[in-house]
Amino acid sequence: MRYLDLIIKYDVTGPRYTSYPPLPYWENPPSQYEWPMHVDQGGVVDLYVHIPFCKNICHYCGCNRIKLCDENDLDKYINYLLKEWKLYRQKCLPLRINSLHLGGGSPSLLSVSQLDKLFGKLLKDLDKSKLKGSIEIDPRNASKLQLQKIFDYGISRLSFGIQDFDPTVQEKIGRLQTFEEVSQIFQQARMIGFEDINFDLIYGLPGQTVSRIEETFKQVVSLRPDTIAFYSFAFVPHFASNQNNILSSDLLQGIEKWKLLETGRNLLFKAGYREVGMDHYALESSLLFKALEGGNLHRNFMGYINHQVDTVIGLGFSAISTTRKSFIQNSKNFLEYYDLIDKGMIPFVKGHVKSDDDLKTESIIHEIMCKQKIKLNSIDVAKVQAFINDNLVKLEGDQVIILEAGKSFLRNICMQFDKRLSTIANNVTFSRTI
Ligand SMILES: C[S@@+](CC[C@H](N)C(=O)[O-])C[C@H]1O[C@@H](n2cnc3c(N)ncnc32)[C@H](O)[C@@H]1O
Ligand code: SF4
Repeated sequence: MRYLDLIIKYDVTGPRYTSYPPLPYWENPPSQYEWPMHVDQGGVVDLYVHIPFCKNICHYCGCNRIKLCDENDLDKYINYLLKEWKLYRQKCLPLRINSLHLGGGSPSLLSVSQLDKLFGKLLKDLDKSKLKGSIEIDPRNASKLQLQKIFDYGISRLSFGIQDFDPTVQEKIGRLQTFEEVSQIFQQARMIGFEDINFDLIYGLPGQTVSRIEETFKQVVSLRPDTIAFYSFAFVPHFASNQNNILSSDLLQGIEKWKLLETGRNLLFKAGYREVGMDHYALESSLLFKALEGGNLHRNFMGYINHQVDTVIGLGFSAISTTRKSFIQNSKNFLEYYDLIDKGMIPFVKGHVKSDDDLKTESIIHEIMCKQKIKLNSIDVAKVQAFINDNLVKLEGDQVIILEAGKSFLRNICMQFDKRLSTIANNVTFSRTI
């Protein structure tokens, strides 16, 4: 089959598999009593802190975020994050923090003194030189002083939200930021000493064309960020009502959308970037690429990471936490989130304790997403036969190897092993795989 026909064949809706089972399938949460015991079995923890506030909501955004209407809300929220952390320290055995990630929304809305308050309490008694830390930065509201403070606390990785540099596209997505603004804050970050900087970009946004995305990528590679996440636009207006500001007639689909991906990818390859798992590209000097080469690439709700993580504690509104045995998600309702903490409870409202079958599928999905191969003895080979026929994977020794051409279809390959998929009508909750 021609490659373009494969794009049409495999362009379906499906999960992104940042967890297994994916969130819409979670069914049996751990109790308030069980959850701290699951955390205790992990030894060390990775901490995720969700800052859900943004100055304005971008039309395309599918994240859990809310417009910041009153600056006081941020101070109140930080107090509750620290209360939530205190609850964990009371309910669990002593917690050893391995890494800290701040995501959102826009963590760069935090002032220098708010950063001081949060980091001062969370990272107390911690050896900064051993901390692995990262933070998502909206270049439109980041300052040199803020970045210096973040660096001084031992956070060494920044991720900038870029999306696209073209003014026509920016107008259509409700997010204006010039290349010059981004370039300035990027250079300042380099001067401070950040050696691991990521750019987020999206293909499939309204107004994008092959020639416009080409210009964006020329500008992106001129700055040489260490890694680039190049996401497919997840158009899910039933879940994110802000996306109703986007006309579906303005969106490219199927082969036309895929051409945007190919244009960006080819320019990245030409500039020396290598593909790392799904949606991610990295310079060979980057930690992420070295992790791939060393067989130490892992993935969780925050994306790809260069170390094994069994336990992630997510603090804040809508934050997700993971242990080997289970997942939980905190409330997405501020009043409920605050109320549960005031009652001395870990503020989760959803969760799932993994079955033995879930654990097996989770391990296969990890191999596909992080190693691009599967051990033959862990699967029924009939499940990959269609991909073998389409020259997207091959059998080699005791393994199924995903070929270069198959790397655009990792989600489709994972879906073959997902027994739960047929239980949600039409998979309406998920975005398209291309
Ligand atoms: C929390 S935001 C990044 C930090 C910051 N708020 C900003 O926008 O600069 C995380 C990333 O998710 C990606 N994203 C958001 N909505 C998306 C969507 N509907 N489809 C694909 N990617 C999306 C964007 O690339 C965005 O940079
Ligand atoms: S993309 Fe970033 S800044 Fe825009 S609404 Fe989403 S979280 Fe906020």
